[in-house]
Amino acid sequence: MITPVITVDGASGTGKGTVSQRVAQHLGWHLLDSGALYRVLGLAAQKQHIALDNEDALSQLALTLNVTFHFQLEGAAQVVLAGEDVSEAIRTEEIGNAASIVGALPAVRKALLERQRAFKEAPGLVADGRDMGTIVFPDAPLKIFLTASAEERAARRHKQLIAKGVDATLAELIEQLRERDKRDTERLVAPLKPAVDAICIDTDHLSVEQVAERILNHWQEKAGEGCSGKKAFPVTEQMAMNNFAPVLA
Ligand code: DC
Repeated sequence: MITPVITVDGASGTGKGTVSQRVAQHLGWHLLDSGALYRVLGLAAQKQHIALDNEDALSQLALTLNVTFHFQLEGAAQVVLAGEDVSEAIRTEEIGNAASIVGALPAVRKALLERQRAFKEAPGLVADGRDMGTIVFPDAPLKIFLTASAEERAARRHKQLIAKGVDATLAELIEQLRERDKRDTERLVAPLKPAVDAICIDTDHLSVEQVAERILNHWQEKAGEGCSGKKAFPVTEQMAMNNFAPVLA
């Protein structure tokens, strides 16, 4: 049987991480947070004092990266790099920026490709990132592209940082987001862009639950296509019937 993949791409702060977690949890599928892989690489490079433009050394590092993801019932996965829990350390703005810089290097992207594809396992995978629908899983039956204004994304990030006790101004965050968007969309290899067959969802005025529900509805429609015209269950009804446990690794 073919293992289905739902790809969820979009810029930083569109909520794709949390939304993808919800969708994977609801379906009982595996989850690939590809941004976390690029972030771990940025952090490992920093720890080993490798310059962020040293493509040879970084692609070697990407091939040998000793990283594991431990999925939890709630929230983001625990990320372990060479035995050290780096779940928090990879979430800083500095490491996000480093991830965006190393992610622009073609040899690095090539080195991480098979590692990302290996996440595709039964019963299914939700993959979130920038090029999931275009490059990593071009045959995915459902591709989603999330958008949100820079102001809305910065406001969400600001709220998260304040909750963590980290000082940041909205203006700074908007500036950083725009810079990162520019690098991610203008790079030559696997730039951030919707796949031609992606469904775009503007998340500006939607909650995480609403976005997850829309994606699940699209998936229901896809899954229902093979059922001789039977209409798919509304998501709420289907949610109540869902006995899948979240996938834990
Ligand atoms: O999704 P995120 O914000 O955690 O990703 C951090 C950076 O990693 C992002 O700015 C660009 C890079 N990245 C990438 O190049 N390709 C991906 N599939 C995911 C992330």
